[in-house]
Amino acid sequence: MSKTTERATLSIPRDIVSLGDYERVALTRLDHACSEHIAAGVADEHTLARNVEDFERIRIQPRLLRNFSNADTGCTLLGSPLRYPIMLAPVAYQKLVHPDGELATAAGAAAVDCGMVVSTLASESLEDIAQQGPDTRWFQLYFQPDRSATLALLRRAERAGYKALVVTLDAPVSGLRNRGQRAGFEMPDDVRAVNLDGLPKAPQRVLEPTDSVILHGFMADAPTTADIIWLLSETQLPVIIKGVLNPLDALELKALGCAGIVVSNHGGRTLDGLPSSISVLPAVRAAVGESFPVLLDSGIRRGTDVLKALALGADCVLVGRPQLYALAVAGALGVAHMLRLLQTEFETAMALSGCPTLSAITKDCILAD
Ligand SMILES: Cc1cc2nc3c(=O)[nH]c(=O)nc-3n(C[C@H](O)[C@H](O)[C@H](O)COP(=O)(O)O)c2cc1C
Repeated sequence: MSKTTERATLSIPRDIVSLGDYERVALTRLDHACSEHIAAGVADEHTLARNVEDFERIRIQPRLLRNFSNADTGCTLLGSPLRYPIMLAPVAYQKLVHPDGELATAAGAAAVDCGMVVSTLASESLEDIAQQGPDTRWFQLYFQPDRSATLALLRRAERAGYKALVVTLDAPVSGLRNRGQRAGFEMPDDVRAVNLDGLPKAPQRVLEPTDSVILHGFMADAPTTADIIWLLSETQLPVIIKGVLNPLDALELKALGCAGIVVSNHGGRTLDGLPSSISVLPAVRAAVGESFPVLLDSGIRRGTDVLKALALGADCVLVGRPQLYALAVAGALGVAHMLRLLQTEFETAMALSGCPTLSAITKDCILAD
């Protein structure tokens, strides 16, 4: 038995029957500052609230008497087979909530055949995670201030068998997560972004006293179109851009040669006042056309949310915070159980809305207001 599975013998409380239950239980078990850091959105959390409210507002229009003899939840996305159109979103520093961190998450995802996107800021090595993880594993890349550092991460991900790159562009500076700040959250010394160890550092930028650390410091290192063109020239892996909310960006990224996009507001953790991902999805889908791969995250908590996202134009959804809550409560077992709950809810939503396959889930499944 691997280190991961050995330690994943935490049991699942009997009253956990939904993703929301994992959140409820995890928030009582985790250290207060840590749970505030994870649950928090940015500033007054209007965007965080909208991520849930906007899903709630959408109503499903069901059909009866559909033929389910060839029912199927599977698809292939950018060459990666998926049993369900559900993957784990990249989530940093998972050792915050469990000693095996991303190793346990990867083992849990593999147990239920769920794809996983591994964060640049993982607290376990991307090679070790690949050993534990599902076959459908993608690497989330944060551009580093030095291109040779970015390239080193890319080459490691390629060698470790990651099948796609998910480049996150919506967080060149950290959002001000006031809830975590008020609770005094600080990253513990033993939880580090180990994959950044030993990478070449960019020369220290010298700022004038009147310069802004944000606008002239961090933003001077933020990726530009030229960086995306460079990255595309350096790899054969499909490059998916995460953090798209504007149809104009979606169009531009498609024209550059990116393989897909993730419609995301980072779980409400970047800029308060952004729209929910689900509310902009139809416009983004209309801009890029039928066949361009579009994923969505931010607020997925129920199988019906998955169905709604697919109906409005997503090919697949990603789940963020619930993986940390499940990991905190029951390690790899918890992650597998949380994903199984979501998969089963999605199957139930397909059955009761009359959609035997993913291609049957169209905007006709949504009741127009
Ligand atoms: C604690 C935490 C850490 C995150 N770390 C990353 C990260 O390293 N890279 C990234 O692209 N997104 C990161 N995200 C954003 C998630 O990938 C995803 O967009 C978001 O959590 C989806 O919203 P949800 O939590 O409502 O499902 C993080 C989110 C949380 C809550």
